[in-house]
Amino acid sequence: MDEGYTTHQYDVVVIGAGGAGLRAAIEASSHNVSVAIISKSMLGKAHTVMAEGGAAAALSNKDHRDSWQTHFRDTMKGGKYLGDWRMAQIHAQQAPDRIRELEQWGAVFDRTPKGITNQRNFGGHTFPRLAHIGDATGLEIIRTLQQKGIHTGMEVFMEYTVRTLFKTDGHISGFFCYNRQDGSLHLFKAKKIVLATGGITRCWEVCSGSWEYTGEGHALAYWVGAHMGDMEFVQFHPTGMIWPPSVKGILVTEGVRGEGGMLRNSEGKRFMFDYVPEMYREEFADTEQEALEWVEEVIAGKLATKRRPPELLTRDVVAKAINSEREAGRASEHGGAYLDISWRDEDEVRKKLPGMYHQFMELAAVDITKQAMEVGPTAHYVMGGVKVDSYTQETTVPGLYAAGEAATGLHGANRLGGNSLSDLIVFGKIAGEAAAIAAKSTSDYLDIDQKEIDYAIKTTLAPLNRSEGENPATVVEDLRHMMQNKVGIIRTGKLLKEALKDLDELENRAKFTSSPGGRIYNPGWHQSLEIQAMIDVSRMCALAALHREESRGGHTREDFPIPDHQKWGKINSRIKQDESGNMVIDYTKYPPIPEELKVHLDKDDLHEEE
Ligand code: FUM
Repeated sequence: MDEGYTTHQYDVVVIGAGGAGLRAAIEASSHNVSVAIISKSMLGKAHTVMAEGGAAAALSNKDHRDSWQTHFRDTMKGGKYLGDWRMAQIHAQQAPDRIRELEQWGAVFDRTPKGITNQRNFGGHTFPRLAHIGDATGLEIIRTLQQKGIHTGMEVFMEYTVRTLFKTDGHISGFFCYNRQDGSLHLFKAKKIVLATGGITRCWEVCSGSWEYTGEGHALAYWVGAHMGDMEFVQFHPTGMIWPPSVKGILVTEGVRGEGGMLRNSEGKRFMFDYVPEMYREEFADTEQEALEWVEEVIAGKLATKRRPPELLTRDVVAKAINSEREAGRASEHGGAYLDISWRDEDEVRKKLPGMYHQFMELAAVDITKQAMEVGPTAHYVMGGVKVDSYTQETTVPGLYAAGEAATGLHGANRLGGNSLSDLIVFGKIAGEAAAIAAKSTSDYLDIDQKEIDYAIKTTLAPLNRSEGENPATVVEDLRHMMQNKVGIIRTGKLLKEALKDLDELENRAKFTSSPGGRIYNPGWHQSLEIQAMIDVSRMCALAALHREESRGGHTREDFPIPDHQKWGKINSRIKQDESGNMVIDYTKYPPIPEELKVHLDKDDLHEEE
């Protein structure tokens, strides 16, 4: 077997080619440095497209009362105050410019009758704030960034999986990867690296992500010594398809609820009125009549004077409510809830939600203009990730940056819908800029230890050389099943301890998977190599979830159901490797929120004088 490899050299390499990666690469290229972008899949095939309903930005086009301050407030509140206020401020202030920039680059956002960018309502946002393109916003943003990006001179490497990041004298120096198509091996030397690898939700059986989403970015950062934060917080989007089984988990955009979709249980009851948390009570309607009047105002294009319908509560709340209805024996026919938009005008539904119309028609033979959809929670996003500097996105490993879902900070314990697309373009730009400026002042490429390269080659090729061993697909399937059942929406200490034990066993099994058959088009080989990342990111989630003995946002403990604001409400988990390579956890705090920002937050939520 030929074990040679090709060496490449770039000032900045961006790993990951979704929204954050493309935006980072565009920005870095504009600083006149050499830039490569690495995609595990085909360019444009990224989870960014699963942010369908829109990108949140306080453009104030639909409601002049909106402002960056309200967006900041909504983001902090939705994240249950565990987010980094500095990132929340930067995000709220810069998102409008990033949207306008996308328009200049050719993104075709939906328009109001006056011809300005239209905005729709979404969960946890006080005002209609989501700039959107029907229900294909992420797709259009990716298309725009790709088109812009390929004209900037960046080199695109498609179908490359990164296996190891290298450090030299404590600074990032490059990485080893292989080409999935032909099995060729590659060494990249880089002055700076931006990780924009997205999330980890393929570790759950029911998820909205596709096969790429196995958490390598999170694992690569952890393995090279970066600190990880808030890994217990996983977002289960309330509305994924649940029927037929072959499409379970596919996203049903929150845009359906933004356009007036109502959730009902098997008894026909609009159950979300029973689940309004105290912290949101003043903002949400408590009768069907008031909720209906709000929708009527919105449809008529008026400023809303009524309180919002409870279907527009934050995702953590809605997902748990659907779960509770199921536990209480009031689930829809196939174990979820009914989501109904059919009461709205048929042409409007088709115009505003064309993707959902076709998705349900083609995959489930349901006409959403006439029938209710059946939906249930699906693992969609991880709020936890690589800890970064709020102003540069540099991680705790010098020279390594992270942006988008791979990074943590902005979303705290729960992300608001629509804040991911704006996160990608705001912090992708910041990371690309910071990496490029730093690369310019770095004169030379660092040497990479040959022994480390040889080790990466050996471990990469190992599954091909084992002729007898377990099929990697079985191990992956067992892992996803276990995570679904033991580290899911509702957790207990007992289940989490079991999960950690199960992960040790899965790790032992993973060491002996085999995928003979050569390097060309060998999916078993790819899967054998992905398992360790899946195990380590799953372990981070289970460990952080076991330690957080309270319920908050995307982390619910049946054995600790109440949020503990004094003990847990102000600290963020941090996971890293100790000197012996063991995974360890401790806690950190963001600096106190300055008074001039605190005035925008809801005083009672801060639990300051208890
Ligand atoms: O429901 C959605 O359209 C997803 C949006 C998001 O995750 O931000």
